[in-house]
Amino acid sequence: MAEQRILPTVEDTEALGRELARDLGPGDLVVLDGPLGAGKTALTRGLADGLGVQGRVSSPTFIIARQHRAGDHPGAIGMVHVDAYRLGGDLDELDSLDLDTDLDHAVVVVEWGLGVVEHLTDRHLRVLLRREPDSDVRTATWEWVAG
Ligand SMILES: Nc1ncnc2c1ncn2[C@@H]1O[C@H](COP(=O)(O)OP(=O)(O)O)[C@@H](O)[C@H]1O
Ligand SMILES: [Mg+2]
Repeated sequence: MAEQRILPTVEDTEALGRELARDLGPGDLVVLDGPLGAGKTALTRGLADGLGVQGRVSSPTFIIARQHRAGDHPGAIGMVHVDAYRLGGDLDELDSLDLDTDLDHAVVVVEWGLGVVEHLTDRHLRVLLRREPDSDVRTATWEWVAG
């Protein structure tokens, strides 16, 4: 069953990310979808914060994937943040990122990943972000999806 939440501010979006991070572990794939400015990177910042990974989350405009090392608390896990926008569906380039290997030990979060990365795991957490015109309010819908 998909869950849904209204997110009036960017802080609410980050808080949702922190909350979702509680259910994530190594091998988990998070696929983020929604138009430019919908809050995919903001949500990723919350995920990173919740996981306690190192390094600042930024929009990976010039890099396609950024590795965030695990924090130093017990049981800490790392996160890989991918922006698939620039891949433009180039599966060879996706392959060369070696996300399978990352998934052995980290959480992998992919912006614009819908239709591109689902094959990497047998299920993924799919988060859709919508924005209303001329408003800060975003709506998130999320669920674990097979395939
Ligand atoms: N409720 C909200 N949730 C997320 N971002 C918001 C919200 N309200 C305003 N913003 C602003 O919208 C922008 C979202 O940008 P970003 O997270 O980079 O989006 P995306 O990665 O989807 O392109 C940021 O500038 C953020 O401050
Ligand atoms: Mg982004």
